[in-house]
Amino acid sequence: MLKDKVAVIYGGGGAIGGAVARAFAREGAKLFLTGRRRAPVEAVAREIVSAGGSAEAAEVDALDEQAVDKHLQSVIDEAGRVDISFNAVGIPGTKILGVSLVELDLEQFSLPITTYATSYFLIARMAARRMVANKSGVIMTATTQHSRMGIPLSGGYGPAMAAEEALTRVLSAELAPQGIRVVGLRPQAIPETGTLKEAFEARAKVSGITWEQFQERLASSNHARRLMTLEEMANVAVFMASDKASGMTGTTVNLTMGSLDD
Ligand SMILES: NC(=O)c1ccc[n+]([C@@H]2O[C@H](COP(=O)([O-])OP(=O)(O)OC[C@H]3O[C@@H](n4cnc5c(N)ncnc54)[C@H](OP(=O)(O)O)[C@@H]3O)[C@@H](O)[C@H]2O)c1
Repeated sequence: MLKDKVAVIYGGGGAIGGAVARAFAREGAKLFLTGRRRAPVEAVAREIVSAGGSAEAAEVDALDEQAVDKHLQSVIDEAGRVDISFNAVGIPGTKILGVSLVELDLEQFSLPITTYATSYFLIARMAARRMVANKSGVIMTATTQHSRMGIPLSGGYGPAMAAEEALTRVLSAELAPQGIRVVGLRPQAIPETGTLKEAFEARAKVSGITWEQFQERLASSNHARRLMTLEEMANVAVFMASDKASGMTGTTVNLTMGSLDD
């Protein structure tokens, strides 16, 4: 579905970024993986290459405008173009989650809002500048249902997710006329990721429930009564990145399996 597409993934060494990278590579895409630390992205790239795919790793801070620009230029120089830009950047929630808003200090409240909105804006802007030349491209990001629900003890995480989804709509309104689609994925919570375990641990003291009970509680809020796998999320990402989804832009796909109504 993605044969010969050139894809850049930011946060490619993380749970979501790594799963999307493996799925894109299986479908024939040429991957350029980036992350704040080199080792995790290199590990994913090695795995892809040893499975017969194409992937290169680079250390790029997604909050550093010059670093993002320089890396993207190196991709263009090598591959000739960029077709897909996927933002899978995520920051640790250890000091943010589990603290009530009235107790949370300003710096910790602002951190997710500035990090997620800034990195997504920079990544999208740099990609769009290159994609316009070909009048085609797909810009993608991942959010959570915090964007649309009042979930306690999650600080500025909800406002950050809502900002990303708003940015997806605005980017699309400006870029779709030039052939560039902008779409997001909104999975509920994926137990295989360290992020969910971290969210549980942050609230464990307050909630007094076990890891298993936490997952059951989340699952019981959706129609399927189970949580999504990384592979299921990545399969949808492949479709959205492919030309089969040419009619889809300016939207965030609800992958909450019914936990959140449309
Ligand atoms: N996990 C879930 O269940 C879930 C569900 C829905 C949506 N999401 C969303 O998906 C995104 C990724 O989540 P995840 O679970 O994959 O998190 P993760 O495993 O912690 O991965 C996040 C990645 O982002 C990288 N990163 C952080 N700051 C960066 C920066 N300034 N520049 C470049 N890379 C940076 C991290 O690299 P370092 O380790 O080197 O810092 C890490 O590899 C988040 O926006 C999250 O909200 C997650």
